[in-house]
Formats: sequence, C-alpha cells, structure tokens
Amino acid sequence: MEEKIRKKLILEAMEARRQAYAPYSRYQVGAALLAVDGEIVCGCNVENASYGASCCAERAAVFKAVSLGKREFRAIAIVGGLQGKAPEDFAYPCGICRQVLHEFAGKEGLSVIVAKSEAEYREHSLEELIPHGFGGGSIV
Ligand code: THU
Repeated sequence: MEEKIRKKLILEAMEARRQAYAPYSRYQVGAALLAVDGEIVCGCNVENASYGASCCAERAAVFKAVSLGKREFRAIAIVGGLQGKAPEDFAYPCGICRQVLHEFAGKEGLSVIVAKSEAEYREHSLEELIPHGFGGGSIV
C-alpha cells in the first residue's frame, strides 16, 4: 500500500470515529474503506439500546459503499478506542466484519490497516485474518 494512501485512510478513519454512536460501550470505532475505483467510503459504529441491533464501523462502511454501487475494495483502515481517549490498542475487526469484508475483497486482495495513529499502525492481508474464508464460489 502506497504510504500517501495509507495515511489518508488512517486520517479518514480517525475522522469517521468522531461520528461513532456508542453510548453503551463508549468504545468508538471509525473505518475508511478504499474501493478499487479509488474512492474512500467511511463508517462508524452505531449502537442500539437493544445491544444486538448495533452495527460495527467496518460493516457500516461496507454497506454504505455497496449502497453507492461499489462492490470491490482494496483496503480498509480501522481506528478504535474508548471515548475521550486516543486509541490505546489496535482495533482488529470482529469475525462478522471479517466475513463481510471477505465477500467484497478485490481480486488482488484487501489490506486491513489497524491504527492507533498515523504513525503507529499494522497492516495485514484479509487472507491472514480470515484464512480459508467462506465465499460465494462454494454455493453459486
Ligand atoms: N465494534 C466495531 O465497530 N468493530 C469491530 O470490529 C468490533 C467492535 C464496535 C461494536 C460496538 O459498538 C463496540 O465496538 C464495542 O463492541
């Protein structure tokens, strides 16, 4: 991943995190998804008083992007941490979000960047995070 793009994704994820609606966990997450057309679509976590109705930031970003007609993604940056604090840990995507990302990973794969700041990040391939993932090829 080109450094300039990675930095932009991390900054956009940090910005999206500001919109998080997380009054129950107070854990705020932002995600910035890079589509193969070069556009970036962001999402934040949106919680609900009925906890199970909550949605993670990564899925919010994917569903928003798909609604805009984008179906193939190159990378996602994720930033998460407790409200009012700078991220203290890397916020890895949950299992459900890994599966959702797997559905829409670009032909050349998808990079997952987890960041505490612009300078402190880790980059993984989605394949590393969800090896042997279940895909449409098995059922279509
Ligand atoms: N969360 C995300 O947004 N992404 C993840 O991959 C894991 C968890 C959110 C869901 C919930 O609003 C809060 O973090 C605490 O679990």
